[in-house]
Amino acid sequence: MKKDINSLRLKKSRGEKIVSLTAYDFMTARLEEEAGVDFILVGDSMAMAVFGEETTLTADLDIMIAHTKAVSRGASNTLVIGDMPFGSYECSDSQAVGNAVRFLSEGGADAVKLEGGNSRSVSRVKAIIDSGIPVMGHVGLLPQSIRKTGGYKVVYRDRRDELFEEAFALQEAGVFSIVLEGIEEKLAGELTEKLSVPAIGIGAGRYTDGQILVVNDMLGLSGEFKPRFLKRYAQLDSIILEALRTFSQEVKNGEFPSESNVYHSREEK
Ligand code: KIV
Repeated sequence: MKKDINSLRLKKSRGEKIVSLTAYDFMTARLEEEAGVDFILVGDSMAMAVFGEETTLTADLDIMIAHTKAVSRGASNTLVIGDMPFGSYECSDSQAVGNAVRFLSEGGADAVKLEGGNSRSVSRVKAIIDSGIPVMGHVGLLPQSIRKTGGYKVVYRDRRDELFEEAFALQEAGVFSIVLEGIEEKLAGELTEKLSVPAIGIGAGRYTDGQILVVNDMLGLSGEFKPRFLKRYAQLDSIILEALRTFSQEVKNGEFPSESNVYHSREEK
């Protein structure tokens, strides 16, 4: 049975942790589904993880939708959420609805996520939900607002009121879940307990309803990037590098292709 937004609510009510990861391509999505993740986010982190950009601000809507299509195909029984990139929902409610619709109609996503809980974001969330599309909220450290905030800054207790106000405004607007990013552990735990919708943490400690990580980071494919909140479950870059070097060596010394890798003429068989 396909996992949907109700599966997340059910998990929160049962006190079971929600497991999620980002994915940007068919193959990774297929493996994540096989591993049993509860939802896959086609994050705007793709700009950094896949395109090597410095920030998420340059994530391109058309490209995001194309990758969402690949992920949806790879994980057809998993809840797939398209992350609305910077510039795709800021201007008006109708711009937000039009672009959210594209994530479902062209990308095959089941829901969308957008950042922030101020009155503008809440208005966009309401308009998108009103058009029949489930929305995931995102509060705390907001990568799309780093030019305003002056960088990737963890949210501490001195910003409690603003954080709680935004999260509850999003809940009131009808989001099915909220990402809590870069928040002091106890504060994130307190907020999680008070929210009725599932809270998914990244850099928000142990007491959220679930966790999400950027898949390239947790697989060890993001070079030197190793913030405190990240745990690497593999070091794939060294495995890939080793394979690439071996291939290169074998081509140069004639070891590849070998007898078992070539097609012989019909007469030779
Ligand atoms: O784009 C992304 O990967 C995200 C996660 C950090 C939640 O928004």
